[in-house]
Amino acid sequence: MSKPMFVLLHAFPVNSSLYDDVRASLSDVCELITPDLAGFGETACSEAEPSLDVYADDVIALLDDQGIEQAVVGGTSMGGYVAMALARRNPERITALVLADTKATADTPDARANRLAVAELVLAAGSTVVLARAMLPNLLGATTHESRPDVVERVRAWIESADPRAVAWAQRAMSARPDSLDHLASFEGPSLVVWGDEDAISSRAEQEFMRSALVDGEFVTLPGAGHLSAVEDSTAFEAAVMAFLTRLGN
Ligand code: MLT
Repeated sequence: MSKPMFVLLHAFPVNSSLYDDVRASLSDVCELITPDLAGFGETACSEAEPSLDVYADDVIALLDDQGIEQAVVGGTSMGGYVAMALARRNPERITALVLADTKATADTPDARANRLAVAELVLAAGSTVVLARAMLPNLLGATTHESRPDVVERVRAWIESADPRAVAWAQRAMSARPDSLDHLASFEGPSLVVWGDEDAISSRAEQEFMRSALVDGEFVTLPGAGHLSAVEDSTAFEAAVMAFLTRLGN
């Protein structure tokens, strides 16, 4: 049996380096693609009106370019929002979903206002150093902060290297995203919800909402990992994802 194609999308405001530690192992069980979303890593900022649908369309263009009809699509946090946008817009292209440390609900008005303020702040500062300082305490779990200073510094470097224009664009795009619970409920393929139990950004309740909405969803908790579980406990993250991808092939 051939290996499944798997497109794995990164979180905000980092880039596809998020998956550096899991890429080799995951590639044993799938054909893995970990693109940078527009403006992050090596890619140019989008000139389009901010919307996660733009990132979703970029993923479809990538699949089209590579002649891939269908793929498993997954993502961490913002990457998960994009996977959900794909499940809403192009369900025929997706065989299964991996939703890591994410949520399906839309922003509250306060969260929206905060995103728009952050967008203005980073553009005015012309830098994301202040963003790294503000986000790091919640972006990583307590265990990582206490015992993995190397991971804290790697993530800080990713955030500080992000383009403020991409950060502002992504914040505006995320602020406009719709609630995806109904779309998850109509997605018929198998789905994996993975969650670090020290995730201070996407709550356990949000994971339960997604798992309950999914027709064929399973939920795996990663003890001692926070919001960026793929880098905080890469071994546990890849084990959960590899087990899911392997089951898909059987
Ligand atoms: C992320 O990790 O992608 C962000 O926390 C998503 C968000 O800001 O909602």
